[in-house]
Amino acid sequence: MKRILVLHGPNLNLLGTREPEIYGKMTLADINGRLETRAKRAGVLIEFLQSNHEGVLVDAIQEAQGKYDFILLNAAAYTHYSIALRDAIGSIDVPVIEVHLSNIHKREGFRHHSVIAPVVMGQVAGLGAESYLAALEAALLKLGVAE
Ligand code: DQA
Repeated sequence: MKRILVLHGPNLNLLGTREPEIYGKMTLADINGRLETRAKRAGVLIEFLQSNHEGVLVDAIQEAQGKYDFILLNAAAYTHYSIALRDAIGSIDVPVIEVHLSNIHKREGFRHHSVIAPVVMGQVAGLGAESYLAALEAALLKLGVAE
């Protein structure tokens, strides 16, 4: 059975109430639920972790090696400055898809640069909760388990 890990970075636990005009009204549980439904239909095991702590995310990325076939990662603010996350992604063979709810390229200048972009397979941004679903669909296709 293929396994996918979904990692959510800082402040994403507040989705639903956090700046809904930017991030939408869905909660993290709603998003995870939609991902779970899709993954189940494809017969894939999906697991979720949200953390506000950089080191916890670094540990999760390191530990994904040999355990997961894909990672979907919304590194949130860490996207823009965490060399530690970038190095962790660069240290494993598990492919990573970078996910953002908002279109980081049309927001404040400091959000335009992703330090993890050069070490991920690809990026999905700006589609709201559908960014995660699009990333999952891509992972399922790459894994050969999408209908
Ligand atoms: C985000 C975009 C980041 O710039 C921001 O810091 C977040 C969420 C997004 O999903 O749009 O926390 O990653």
